[in-house]
Amino acid sequence: MEKYSIAVIPGDGIGKEVTPEGVDVLEAAARLHGGFELAYAYFPWGCEYCLEHGRMMPSDGLDTLRDFDAIYFGAVGRPDLMPDSVSLRELLLKIRLGFDQYACVRPSLLLPGVLSPLEGKKPGDIDLVAVRENTEGEYVGAGGRAHPGMAFESAVETAVFTRPGTERVIRYAFELARSRPRKLLASVTKSNALNHSMAFWDQIFDEVSKDYPDVGTERVLVDAMAARMVLHPEGVDVFVASNLFGDILTDLSGAITGSMGLAPSANLNPERNFPSMFEPVHGSAPELCGKDVANPIAMCWSGAMMLEHLGQKAAGDIIVEAIKAVTADALALTPDLGGKAKTKEMTAAILAKMEALAK
Ligand code: NAI
Ligand code: MG
Repeated sequence: MEKYSIAVIPGDGIGKEVTPEGVDVLEAAARLHGGFELAYAYFPWGCEYCLEHGRMMPSDGLDTLRDFDAIYFGAVGRPDLMPDSVSLRELLLKIRLGFDQYACVRPSLLLPGVLSPLEGKKPGDIDLVAVRENTEGEYVGAGGRAHPGMAFESAVETAVFTRPGTERVIRYAFELARSRPRKLLASVTKSNALNHSMAFWDQIFDEVSKDYPDVGTERVLVDAMAARMVLHPEGVDVFVASNLFGDILTDLSGAITGSMGLAPSANLNPERNFPSMFEPVHGSAPELCGKDVANPIAMCWSGAMMLEHLGQKAAGDIIVEAIKAVTADALALTPDLGGKAKTKEMTAAILAKMEALAK
């Protein structure tokens, strides 16, 4: 019997509401598939913890997490308690950077029964994966403020692109593109305007592409990619982008597949020197919190990605197939998908489909 240890960080807002749903679904997948067990340790880190302890997580938080097989994360952010700049950087970004989770993988699939805000799209018309650079670029945190309160007060934030950091995420994206039927990879930059860092990225993309002659490539400027994702998302298979561009484009890719409540993500350290982290793309949605209406699918699907990373893809597939069956049959849909179901009702529908599929 394989055993995997999972660090669970529900975080804030609806993160706390969807995390138990995800854990229920993971437990069902383990039981129905068999052959492995999951053991969970819970960490109450987030904005409320910070009010009490003065930090988003303990100073030895990363050491505490280091030996887990994976981290299952809800969402962070309570702008009423803490500036977002603090909550994000002191918890989520600390883990992503501290554990060198450089490949942020975010699939977007238009599920059966889900209406895209784009007219006329059928299930599967949108089927793309974003690979977002997750440890450097625009979010590296290099910068500062000068002359506070004075008329010429200023702020500088510098993006940092290293050769190894750029090369490894591009290589990861090529490997992923190679594993998919269409084998297409778009590199998203803004090298017409950011002609130091992004021209450097283009150069490395071209170099790495020589090792993958079987993968079709193109370079797309980020503004053109934003338009393409609205006008013709069918043509997008895998794209790789910097931290900032990937962040923005994956909210767009989540939105065109019907709801932010559907979009899963994996923050991967592919070399497995550190645990990887699995979390929905969405945030803590404070306006939904306490209403029991948060869509649990993104959290459950992120759990399926975690099982795949742990070597239990077949168990993860039970979750993904059940999610597709629930949306296809319009069973217990939450309000973001046009239904009236509560969070727990949708989870119950997913669990019932998992049981049915496993028979
Ligand atoms: P958000 O992702 O929380 O919400 C964006 C929109 O999507 C809202 O209309 C919300 O109602 C909807 N939505 C999100 N998740 C949903 C779900 N599961 N079911 C149904 N609808 C859902 O982003 P927002 O509003 O910009 O940020 C809120 C807080 O979350 C802020 O404090 C922000 O810093 C934080 N945040 C945290 C992230 C993380 O932990 N990874 C990512 C993005 C934002
Ligand atoms: Mg985002």
